[in-house]
Amino acid sequence: MIVLGIETSCDETGVALYCTERGLLAHTLYSQVKLHADYGGVVPELASRDHVRKLLPLIQCCLQQAALNIRDIQGVAYTSGPGLVGALLVGAATGRALAWSLGVPAIGIHHMEGHLLAPLIEADPPQPPFVALLVSGGHSQLVEVRAIGRYRVLGETLDDAAGEAFDKTAKLLGLPYPGGPELAQLATSGVRGRFTFSRPMTDRPGLEFSFSGLKTQVLLAWRDSDQSAQTRADIALGFQDAVVDTLAIKCERALLAAGSKTLVVAGGVGANRDLRKKLDELAQRKRIRVCFPRPEFCTDNGAMIAFAGALRLVAGQHNDAAITVQPRWDMAALPAV
Ligand code: KG4
Ligand code: ZN
Repeated sequence: MIVLGIETSCDETGVALYCTERGLLAHTLYSQVKLHADYGGVVPELASRDHVRKLLPLIQCCLQQAALNIRDIQGVAYTSGPGLVGALLVGAATGRALAWSLGVPAIGIHHMEGHLLAPLIEADPPQPPFVALLVSGGHSQLVEVRAIGRYRVLGETLDDAAGEAFDKTAKLLGLPYPGGPELAQLATSGVRGRFTFSRPMTDRPGLEFSFSGLKTQVLLAWRDSDQSAQTRADIALGFQDAVVDTLAIKCERALLAAGSKTLVVAGGVGANRDLRKKLDELAQRKRIRVCFPRPEFCTDNGAMIAFAGALRLVAGQHNDAAITVQPRWDMAALPAV
């Protein structure tokens, strides 16, 4: 089955074609980063309008890449939540209209399920049960995956998501939007140990996270410093180390709690090189397996939606023709596959 995947939940328009027999056939992505940069964050109305402009050309481009005709599409999957309501509606309306005109089934996909399943697109994919660390701009969760579609949240953030903490801290340090990757880049020239920040909520049992206090620590350290370029890099590294260590400690605990030997990492922060290194070390030390998607499939993309959609459509699931989205959506409420 050839499935078209559409992702428009935030500031990236992602399109992909996934074939259940041949794997990923094509994927294209348009990032709106430049559009929102002047505002220091995503402007929802601008995001929706840009999805309208870019989505159809990207679908054409994807079909061309795969040397397919629009009539070869046998199913459509689109992100129907969580996310920005207007942005989601662009993908949902386009996806449903296409499916209706082609006479093929369509399904709304949970954005975080897309992230969670992204590592399974790669070669030698892990099989459930496993524990997933989902770290994006909007979410930080540890999820027990018993089977595809059977998810139990083991712990999540009480305030800022990991990506949000990266973005806000980057802003404090005067880095341009989007701050996460910028801060990570700056940290590569930092001196380790000059600034040490706390590892929030690791001094007590539990799998919850809290990252909002860290940015206050960074703010105070930056304010009281000489504010030189080197100090900025050193603080960036100190902050990144604190987040990475905290995530690794909680991952180790979650694996123990779930009795699992496989960890899957997904979401934008999963592209962070130090986090990948730290979790690889954890894997070696604990003799477990850790799986990451390639960095471009950690951040938002259409491939993860096409893949998750293909799994569900092949299992006979689809939604009726109404165009509905769910800006808030509990992953535990998803049906099993
Ligand atoms: O999954 P994603 O693309 O979008 C959401 O669903 O939120 O994640 C975006 C988040 C942003 O907060 C971004 O700053 C962060 O992931 N991010 C990173 C890196 N690349 C993206 N954070 C730290 N290091 C990176 N290399
Ligand atoms: Zn995402």
